[in-house]
Amino acid sequence: MREFLENLKSRGMLIEVNKKIYADKIPALLKKLDGRPVLFNLVEGTSYKVVGNICSSRDLLALSLNVRKEELLFRLAEVFRRGSQPEIVKKGRCQEVTEGVNLNNLPILTYTAGDEGPYVTSGVVITRDPEFGRNVSFHRLMRLDDKRFAMRIVEDRDTDVYLKRAGGELEVAICIGNHPSFLLAASTSLDITVDELEIANNLREIKLVKCKKVNLEVPADCEIVLEGRITGELVDEGPFLDLTGTYDIVRKQPVVEIKHFTHAENPIYQALLPGGLDHKLLMGLPREPVIFNEVNKVCECKNVLITPGGCSWLHGIVQIRKKDSEDGKNAIEAAFKAHKSMKHVVIVDEDIDIYDLNSVEYAIATRFQASKDVVLKKGKGSSLDPSANQVTRETTKVGIDATIPSDKDKSHFLLVKIIGEDTIRVEDYVSQ
Ligand SMILES: Cc1cc2nc3c(=O)[nH]c(=O)nc-3n(C[C@H](O)[C@H](O)[C@H](O)COP(=O)(O)O)c2cc1C
Repeated sequence: MREFLENLKSRGMLIEVNKKIYADKIPALLKKLDGRPVLFNLVEGTSYKVVGNICSSRDLLALSLNVRKEELLFRLAEVFRRGSQPEIVKKGRCQEVTEGVNLNNLPILTYTAGDEGPYVTSGVVITRDPEFGRNVSFHRLMRLDDKRFAMRIVEDRDTDVYLKRAGGELEVAICIGNHPSFLLAASTSLDITVDELEIANNLREIKLVKCKKVNLEVPADCEIVLEGRITGELVDEGPFLDLTGTYDIVRKQPVVEIKHFTHAENPIYQALLPGGLDHKLLMGLPREPVIFNEVNKVCECKNVLITPGGCSWLHGIVQIRKKDSEDGKNAIEAAFKAHKSMKHVVIVDEDIDIYDLNSVEYAIATRFQASKDVVLKKGKGSSLDPSANQVTRETTKVGIDATIPSDKDKSHFLLVKIIGEDTIRVEDYVSQ
């Protein structure tokens, strides 16, 4: 993460707050400056610096991977198909200092008045299963006391599967303060056998160090590592502000006990604003290449967008080159298969601009007939959608095929230009 902050600084893209600030003022400033990375150099009562909003735009994520914004989807789609083993080294920044375990020493923030307590929101949790190997995933952590957290683990996700297979207790390494490329890898939901550390290594080379008290490896250059164990105990977790900008419900969730605490010298704690652009982009963007790859198995997919209006999670737009009358419907099925939490998806042709919602609405208005072009599916969706059953995740999904109908004359659907529209120069006739 430090190298990325240096890069931002050299480009004048990092806002540095040098005035001393109380930690309880940080969330509101991150919200006001959402979309722009902010580093708080002096935080009252702690030696940690605090940074936030580092993944809060597509431009920032593209910069972190050294690609153009338009190439992000295709780069991720390529990398998600294969990984490569990171090298294990003896020493890492994340183990420069060993502290006695006291979670009160971390500047863990409380984000809203109704949150049950202070939450670590940028914690990436690494686990291992004897058969499936390593898993890397985000899990929010509610501080319970100086040694324990409650960890939100969405049912059926890989960490949940690993935990159940291990009989309810599992070693974990929690990494805080990571490079955006590693955070993107942690946000993916690929096959259970895929090691996201290998995906991270293909996105941008990483080195690993072995943990001191648990049989796991962590990125050598992250800022903070908390080693511990998920115990068999369950406690109430939440309420907590989630992606939709609403409170997630209270559930019984596992306790994690921290046994070992290491960090970098002059450590930087990473904050992640719940419901903010960081959160939204990290959730939604890695789904786009997964949908892209899956839709490409059934027809030619050109582009995918998980839209911000759908909380960057519940709504998708898929652009295809339609060759067969069933391509639109097949694309709907493939998109829902690839992103199981998605509730509504719209399939459009190549001439529709998926980044312009008016253009997408135009396709629905002129190319779609609900009696034959809609797919309605009952099934499991997102636990985050307040209109669904948030316990069972039962929901109804809608797929809209807004591609030009194959049984009609295509020429009736193409936008008609006025004679000379492309060639006439306004300034030749009108002075501004
Ligand atoms: C910022 C952020 C916070 C997240 N918080 C949680 C969480 O608290 N619990 C959870 O189970 N998943 C959470 N997720 C989702 C998982 O990390 C993500 O879906 C991951 O791909 C699941 O991986 P898996 O299918 O390999 O388990 C979060 C994702 C992001 C980007």
